[in-house]
Amino acid sequence: MKRVLTGLKPTGDLTLGNYIGSIKLMKDLEGKYESYLFVADLHALTVPNDPVLLHERIKKFIGMYIACGIDPTKHVIYLQSENAYIPAISWLLECSTYYGEASRMIQFKEKSKQNANFTVGLLTYPVLMASDILYCDADLVPVGIDQKQHVELARDIADRFNKRFGEVFTLPDVYINEHGAKIYDLQDPTKKMSKTEENPKGVISLFDDPEVAKSKIMKATTDSLATIKYDPENQPGISNLLTIASSLSNEDIDSIVNKFEGKGYGDFKKYVAEIVGNFLTDIQSKYNDIINSNKVDEILDNGKEITTKLAKDKYEKLSKMMGVYR
Ligand code: TRP
Repeated sequence: MKRVLTGLKPTGDLTLGNYIGSIKLMKDLEGKYESYLFVADLHALTVPNDPVLLHERIKKFIGMYIACGIDPTKHVIYLQSENAYIPAISWLLECSTYYGEASRMIQFKEKSKQNANFTVGLLTYPVLMASDILYCDADLVPVGIDQKQHVELARDIADRFNKRFGEVFTLPDVYINEHGAKIYDLQDPTKKMSKTEENPKGVISLFDDPEVAKSKIMKATTDSLATIKYDPENQPGISNLLTIASSLSNEDIDSIVNKFEGKGYGDFKKYVAEIVGNFLTDIQSKYNDIINSNKVDEILDNGKEITTKLAKDKYEKLSKMMGVYR
C-alpha cells in the first residue's frame, strides 16, 4: 500500500483550517493509504517559543487529532522530536543540499526578511522536512500551497541522492486538495486562516468556546452582492463560509446554495454558525475524554516505536552509502 504522510507545526492552537485542510483530509484517505500523521514540534523551534506553552500544545495536538476522528489504529501518530533518527538523517541530507537551493525557498526569503536575527534553523527547515518525508518513503504529502515548494525540494534532494549513491528514496508527490482544502480568515477572506494570526476574530480555534466561534461566523466579512453563491473570486467571504459548512456537514456546496436561494446573509450565517458550533461541541467533548485518559501516551509510544524502526533502518542504509560507518 502506498504511504501518505503529513505533519502540523505546533506554533498556535489547531484551527478549523487545519481540521478541514489536513486532519479531515487524512481521515478521508483512511484505508486507501498507509498513513503517517505527526506533530512537527522540531519545526516549531525555528522561531522563538515559550517552552512551557509549546510542551502543552504538543499533547493537545495529538488529543485533538483523535477527537477529530483520526482512528489511531489506522494511522501511525507520533511526535517528530521522539524520533532521534529524523534529525540525524536531516544532517546527511543537508550535506546533499545546496545553499543556493535552500536560500531560494520563498518561505525562507520572507521570514528571514522579517527579522535580521533569524537562526540557521530557518534555512535548514525544509531539509528537516525532507527528512520527515523521506525516512519512511512517503509517496504522497498533503500540504497547503505554501509548503508545496518544500515538498518539491524534498523530491529534488531524494532524486539527487538516488543518482549519486544508489536508489534508496521513494520520490514523494505533493498533494494539494484544490477544493475545500483551504479555509480563509473570516475577517480577511483573501488570506489563509492561520494558527499564528494575531487577530483571533478571523480565526476559529478548535478549542474556541462554541458560542464565541458562532459569533465569529456571524461577524464574518461578506460582500454587498446579496446572493449566496460559490464564487471565490467575487465573493470570497461567502464562498469560504460555504466551504466550511460543506466540509463539516458533508453536504455538497450546490445543495447548500439551493437551500438558500432568495434568502439573506443573516439566515445563511446562522446556519453556518450552527454547524460550526455543533462540530466544536462534539469534538471538544471527545477531546476531554481522550486527554483525561492515558490513550495519548499509548498512541505516542506506538508511533515512536514504529517510526524509529523505519528511520533507524534508513539512517543505517544512508550512512553506509555515504561511507560513515564502522
Ligand atoms: N512545514 C510544515 C508546515 O509548516 C509542517 C511539516 C513539517 C510537514 N514536516 C512536514 C508537512 C512533512 C508535511 C510533511 O506546515
